[in-house]
Order: sequence, then structure tokens, then C-alpha cells
Amino acid sequence: MTLRTPRFIQTRERDSHGERDAAIAGLLAQPARALPKYFYDRLGSHLFDAITELPEYYPTRTEAAIFAEHGAEMARCIGAGATLIDLGAGSCEKAARLMPLLEPRRYIAVDISADYLHDALRELQRDNPALDIVGVGMDFSQSPALPAGLLADSPGRPAFFYPGSSIGNFTPAEAAAFLSGVRAQATGGGLLIGVDLVKPIDILEAAYDDAIGVTAAFNLNLLRHLNRIVGSDFDPKQWRHVALFDSTESRIEMHLEARTELLVRWPGGERRFRAGERMHTENSYKYTAASFAELLQRSGFRTSRRWLAPQEWFAVFWAEA
Ligand code: AVJ
Repeated sequence: MTLRTPRFIQTRERDSHGERDAAIAGLLAQPARALPKYFYDRLGSHLFDAITELPEYYPTRTEAAIFAEHGAEMARCIGAGATLIDLGAGSCEKAARLMPLLEPRRYIAVDISADYLHDALRELQRDNPALDIVGVGMDFSQSPALPAGLLADSPGRPAFFYPGSSIGNFTPAEAAAFLSGVRAQATGGGLLIGVDLVKPIDILEAAYDDAIGVTAAFNLNLLRHLNRIVGSDFDPKQWRHVALFDSTESRIEMHLEARTELLVRWPGGERRFRAGERMHTENSYKYTAASFAELLQRSGFRTSRRWLAPQEWFAVFWAEA
């Protein structure tokens, strides 16, 4: 057997000017807003990992329980020898746990930074010596279109993997566009996707406003990341974490709220905030099993199978393209 090593592809370097301009436009918007991708600098990624360990944050462990219980059946739906495309792979932990069941021929791990994937993919290669591994660095939040030719020469059926209810960061209209983009690349295969479901409001709000303040730190840390991108002078101490469920929109909204009147400055601009004024930092949409099945169908998927957690707290779908 040949000794394999992971390959890496980085789609065009991130455009730091465009990124700064977009972040400033958000700061000047009425109300101010920031994109959730700004949560995930180095510290923010660690804080998110800590969130997944919180007793209040049920999604990660609930989804893991679904994979543990039904993974073999999912693998039968997908079939051995597929190309597994992991969107937002990060540490590749979730895919690594499914590998022995799925037995894919090729694993394409996609994350915003190929650097972040290096160590994880090398470790994965050690445990799966025959697996063909490709790391792709790209910001797929705009479009899930993979580098040209990569899927065309991939073995087996394409099986996209989008766990963790990350789809919840998109509005339903954006989610439909994103899922259609996945569908367009998944012909002959499909999409394995985890989605968080509507449940009593106290449980939802506690998951995004935990007792010891890890989610508050995660939200406030975005200000430091913005300071580095924009050159602004946000002081996290002047802000308060707010997380509320909007049942009309069926989404958790996270905001940062100014504790006092304050002025934020950056090279070339400034923004005054009144006491109590909020900056919107994240939406996390919650679906019903039926509304998400409908969204998959609207996005062009033919059929879907689903596995639900007890009390319908979370769902995993296999949608055929
Ligand atoms: C990574 C988008 C799935 O919405 O639950 C966790 C992010 N924000 N706590 C979510 C998050 C606050 C998370 N997703």
C-alpha cells in the first residue's frame, strides 16, 4: 500500500481590505451588526469548544447521541466508498468518529483556514492510512461551490456533511440558497446535516446565556476580534451579553448591549452608542422537523430520512440529491 499524506488547497488569500470595509459597514449600520464569523478567532474557537461542554448547551451532545445511536443506519444510506465533504471541518472530530462506519474513499475537509486543518488531517491520516484526504481552505459561507474539478475526479458518491446546526446562522432564505448550492454539487449523492429544533423557550435561552458566562465571553470576545480587523477601540467591559428567543422569527438572537453611552473610534471613523443600544452579533434559527424537511425539498433534494433525538430536541437528516 502506498503511504498517503493529506493534500491542501487554499482558495484565494482572504481579502483583508474587503473584510475591513464590510466590518465597518456593519458598525455603521442602523442597528449596528457584526457577522458571526467574527466569533472565531483563536480564543473564540476555544470558547466555542468550552460552550459545547456546558450543561446548558444541549446541541452538541444531543447530536453526538444521534450519530452514536444511528450512525450505522446512516452509513447504510450513504454506502461505503463515498467522497465525504465536511463543511466547517475544524478539528474533524465529528467526521473522524463516523469514519469507521462510513468507510469513505476520499475525505474533503473544508474550513475557512487550511492552516487550521493541517494538524487534524495529519492525525486523521495516521488513523486512516488508506483514506485519500484533501484539506480545502475557503470561506464557504458565501457559496458552497468547491474548487473546480475537485468533485469531478472524486471517487464514489458525493456525501456532504454539515453537522452542528451551523445552518441556523443563515436566514431561511439564505439557507435555501446555500442548500441549493450544495444540492447542485451532490448529484448521485446527498447531504447529511444536523439541525437544532424548536423547544421550550427557557431551555433555548439558557443554552445561549449560561450560568457561568462562557457564552457571554464568546460574544464579548467578538469585540476584540473586531478591534484587530478594524483598528477600533471597543472595550468589552462597556458591553453586556444579551440572548433572546424571538418566537415569530423562530431564532435565538445574540446582541451586545452598551452599558453606558459610549464612543467607538477607528482610523477614519467612529460610532456613538446610546446606553442600552445593541449591536446584533448572531441569529441561530430553530426549525421543526417538518419545516426543515420542507426547506430541503425546496432546495432541490428529492427525499430525506431523518433521525430525531428524544423529545425532538435535535434532528439529523440524510437528504438525497
Ligand atoms: C455554531 C452556529 C451552531 O448557533 O448554537 C453557540 C454558535 N452561538 N452559542 C449555535 C453559538 C452561541 C452555534 N453554531
